[in-house]
Amino acid sequence: RGAPHRAAAGRHRREHHREAAAAAVGETHGSLDLLINAAGILSIPNVIQPETSLSKVQKSSLLLAYEVNAVGPILVIKHMRPFLKIGASLGTGKGFSLVANMSARVGSIGDNALGGWHSYRASKTALNQLTKTASVELGKKDNIACILLHPGTVDTDLSRPFQRNVAKDKLFTREFSVHKLLSIIDNAKKTDNGKFFAWDGQEIPW
Ligand SMILES: NC(=O)c1ccc[n+]([C@@H]2O[C@H](COP(=O)([O-])OP(=O)(O)OC[C@H]3O[C@@H](n4cnc5c(N)ncnc54)[C@H](OP(=O)(O)O)[C@@H]3O)[C@@H](O)[C@H]2O)c1
Repeated sequence: RGAPHRAAAGRHRREHHREAAAAAVGETHGSLDLLINAAGILSIPNVIQPETSLSKVQKSSLLLAYEVNAVGPILVIKHMRPFLKIGASLGTGKGFSLVANMSARVGSIGDNALGGWHSYRASKTALNQLTKTASVELGKKDNIACILLHPGTVDTDLSRPFQRNVAKDKLFTREFSVHKLLSIIDNAKKTDNGKFFAWDGQEIPW
């Protein structure tokens, strides 16, 4: 399974894929008023594992998590920006375009009491800063708002190897989490630009 997983990790690392996706949106729709960046990695067998101690931290894991979880989404926004700007100008929907980036509570520096998971944590912290920085520029210039979302601990492939210590009522179904996140997206206001929300709508400290 190592090789296909390594290949999978490569997808969000290729610039021409992002450019092709943006071109396809342009050709098919001409505009975009909602972009959700959900792709992310926590572990890949034989490639990257969440670190339980500083002694397990490796340069390759730090760089891979950063590339997939932070670099990928911000470059997707860069390429989709022209279409999001058009979407905002059409006057349909909310009156502005929205980018929702899937972050994680563990990316919060202020909330970090447990330690561990260095690569994943730091990559989500970087995603938060990159998104916040983009939100200032895009909010002013293009009428595009950017928000960050924490979905809760959700029963997906990503969390499956790490669910043992999660209380039953703290492990959400995908349907529950998506319902909550869509409610935040549907109710988002322009003044929410640059904010980091948990699944329940509460703001998370940076
Ligand atoms: N599940 C949780 O408890 C939890 C908690 C906090 C935050 N999050 C965040 O929520 C987001 C969604 O996670 P999930 O739980 O739905 O995980 P998931 O089931 O593992 O899905 C991750 C998605 O990312 C895509 N992906 C992974 N590596 C990629 C790459 N290199 N290039 C392009 N796409 C890639 C996968 O595509 P393929 O299916 O095609 O491989 C898949 O669609 C992630 O950003 C994650 O960090 C999840």
